[in-house]
Amino acid sequence: MSSKPRLQGKVAIVTGGASGIGAETVKLFVENGASVIIADIDDELGHNFATSIGSDKVSYYHCDVRDEKQVEETVAFTLEKYGNLDIFFSNAGIAGKLSSILDFDLSEFDNTMVVNIRGVAATIKHAARAMVTRKTRGSIICTASVAGSFAGCAGFDYTTSKHGVIGLVRSACCELGAYGIRVNSISPYAVATRLTCAALGMEADEVEAMGQARANLQGITLKTNHIAEAALFLASDESAYVSGLNLVVDGGFSVVNRCLPDILK
Ligand SMILES: NC(=O)c1ccc[n+]([C@@H]2O[C@H](COP(=O)([O-])OP(=O)(O)OC[C@H]3O[C@@H](n4cnc5c(N)ncnc54)[C@H](O)[C@@H]3O)[C@@H](O)[C@H]2O)c1
Repeated sequence: MSSKPRLQGKVAIVTGGASGIGAETVKLFVENGASVIIADIDDELGHNFATSIGSDKVSYYHCDVRDEKQVEETVAFTLEKYGNLDIFFSNAGIAGKLSSILDFDLSEFDNTMVVNIRGVAATIKHAARAMVTRKTRGSIICTASVAGSFAGCAGFDYTTSKHGVIGLVRSACCELGAYGIRVNSISPYAVATRLTCAALGMEADEVEAMGQARANLQGITLKTNHIAEAALFLASDESAYVSGLNLVVDGGFSVVNRCLPDILK
């Protein structure tokens, strides 16, 4: 339990909240006083996770972000249950296929885009509508990736989709600033979750070893709680004047190119 609840009385929705980064964020938001709706497609995991938290401040709601109607219904359910929506963490995403641009499958490409971009667009739309209607100075946070700022560390579809998420966030930030609504993204480096383990065909410790071997920041392994802490910052009043930010949580990975030692060899 954090010493000071930073989201006391706030209401949040977390998509992809049944697993990985989303689940860790749900726990941290609840610990900090928020009421949270876990929105996901994995009903069994979502229900079990909500029950395991053991708080009446958290519940599960089925929401496939590919379907705008389900996103709208999730927001409506939240408003009905808690009367407001202060925070929307649009975090659901898939890894897509690790294919080459020379032979990628367009239907797989569409599938990645429909979850990772169209899904995020639908969540921003319905979160913003609820906040504007109720004059809530809310916070919308989207999970992008370091792959949203450069190529080479993820598949073609995924890299394209996460660049799109950062564009969506900037556009929404531009329009929603007039209503006092903040819109930001978080770009994590590699974290061992179901998504990365399945995409890379590795166990969690192998994903972490792979990430550590290529990381800039040594002596620490990136975990889901580090991303959840970034989400908590962007959700809380501590970031009251932060909007349009892509908060990169990568230990400096994306700003370092260690070419000098090779040049000097
Ligand atoms: N793990 C990493 O290294 C990493 C790095 C950068 C960005 N990300 C991003 O973090 C986010 C969370 O991923 P994670 O690593 O925690 O993976 P995860 O697989 O543990 O969690 C993803 C969750 O999203 C849910 N989901 C998938 N499709 C959905 C849909 N259509 N509608 C609603 N929910 C859906 C899944 O059921 C799952 O619970 C994703 O957007 C991912 O792209 C992850």
